[in-house]
Amino acid sequence: MSPSLRIIYASTSGHTEFVVQTLVSALHDLAPDVPVDVRRAEEAAPDDLLRADALILASGTWNTGGQEGQLNPHMHALLLERAAGIDLAGKPMAFISLGDDRYYFTTRCTEHFLRFMREHGGTQLLPPLIILNEPYEQAGKIEAWAERLHRCILRSG
Ligand SMILES: Cc1cc2nc3c(=O)[nH]c(=O)nc-3n(C[C@H](O)[C@H](O)[C@H](O)COP(=O)(O)O)c2cc1C
Repeated sequence: MSPSLRIIYASTSGHTEFVVQTLVSALHDLAPDVPVDVRRAEEAAPDDLLRADALILASGTWNTGGQEGQLNPHMHALLLERAAGIDLAGKPMAFISLGDDRYYFTTRCTEHFLRFMREHGGTQLLPPLIILNEPYEQAGKIEAWAERLHRCILRSG
């Protein structure tokens, strides 16, 4: 049976949502039999991080709490508050980070994802997909990452 994939994302102006939609479409073309469940961070419970065989988290970088370089507020609330006590038990994971080069702490939400994984016992499937500035002309980069992700999921399944 194909390993299942869950994507949980936070998106305020729609950039991360576009990246996730492009990824899902590319994965569907590569592997129509891989079940992909997509949900927004604000609608996710901590258990949702554990349900599929592999987990993708996606967020833009924000000034959550008044300081730049943070996770989107909805991803922050899920990972650092609601799921603060979770045991990821080796869960294979990968991350998608967005940001804008107008900010000093550019795309630094990546670090929060990696710390969350380390502190809660997750396993990284492949290096993060980092999208700088508007994603709309970057479909090729997203599709290339989808291919790598697909290969990694098959190996881990
Ligand atoms: C209030 C605010 C704070 C932001 N802070 C940062 C930041 O610290 N570092 C960064 O690289 N981008 C920062 N950004 C840019 C967003 O991460 C970027 O526009 C991203 O593509 C937004 O994704 P979304 O539309 O999915 O939420 C910020 C944007 C806003 C509106």
